[in-house]
Amino acid sequence: MGNLDGKVAFVTGAARGQGRSHAVRLASEGADIIAVDICDQIGTVNYPLATSDDLAETVRQVEKLDRRIVASVADVRIRHQLTEAVAEGLTPFGRLDIVVANAGIYPGQGGSRCEAFIDATDVDLIGVMNTVAVSLPHLQAGASIIVTGSTAGMIEGATEKLGPGGSGYSWAKQTIARYVEALALQLAPQSIRLNAIHPTNCNTLLLHNIDVYKAFRPDLEEPTREDVVDAFPAMQAMPIPYIEPIDISNVVAFLASEQSRYMTGVNLRVDAGAMLKPAPV
Ligand SMILES: NC(=O)c1ccc[n+]([C@@H]2O[C@H](COP(=O)([O-])OP(=O)(O)OC[C@H]3O[C@@H](n4cnc5c(N)ncnc54)[C@H](O)[C@@H]3O)[C@@H](O)[C@H]2O)c1
Repeated sequence: MGNLDGKVAFVTGAARGQGRSHAVRLASEGADIIAVDICDQIGTVNYPLATSDDLAETVRQVEKLDRRIVASVADVRIRHQLTEAVAEGLTPFGRLDIVVANAGIYPGQGGSRCEAFIDATDVDLIGVMNTVAVSLPHLQAGASIIVTGSTAGMIEGATEKLGPGGSGYSWAKQTIARYVEALALQLAPQSIRLNAIHPTNCNTLLLHNIDVYKAFRPDLEEPTREDVVDAFPAMQAMPIPYIEPIDISNVVAFLASEQSRYMTGVNLRVDAGAMLKPAPV
């Protein structure tokens, strides 16, 4: 018996990282999964996004738990692709109870016309809003929507100090927090909940890439993992360099379940105390 027996969860960015971890964690509680991922590259992103082999591995891990999964390639920027992916999952499953709008990118600074800002906001904000929009018609009272923000949206001055990619990322995540509060209030009379989780640095490829390393070590032209080893723990109040995907998945599972039935419109930090620290002077 799991906390989510008989429920169906839609997870974006499910091919790897936190998205795969969420899909597997929700399946371990009894949910069937509708999974999507872009499985392709986006021009301004300087690290590899997931592949169809990654998505196949998520399918394998969910099925190993004796849960069903319908996985498709879809881009969260393109609303009709999400509509089709949800419809494909609804055919066998017949219902949708949980939505996890997790897909995200951290673009570099590339492009002469702020393309990195556009890509970041298209995926990290509009992609989240598209995911919610295509899901809402299928949700009933008791449904739970969880969107992924970031403490990057809470760091004083991040939107102004970073270049186009980091600025777009930070602004998108900041806007997610307001979006959740505004829409949660509208959904509350229907007993549909909407909450955001804001992770600190998490041990995935979105963190381990040259553009994030540059944000931590702006003094270096080509910072490597070794160069940021000391800078990473300085972010959190607790003595860790980063959290793991499962640390977010455990909170996703809680917010998806009845255990959190009266929590809505909440912006929940999972940040090892990062945002309690005073901003560097
Ligand atoms: N890793 C961190 O340090 C960190 C910190 C705070 C917040 N986040 C957020 O967590 C979420 C998950 O990221 P992650 O850390 O697992 O990184 P990740 O790069 O491992 O996973 C992101 C997934 O999203 C997919 N994706 C990207 N663009 C997409 C699109 N347009 N359509 C569909 N899928 C797309 C990627 O292919 C990948 O599988 C993101 O929203 C990210 O912004 C990450």
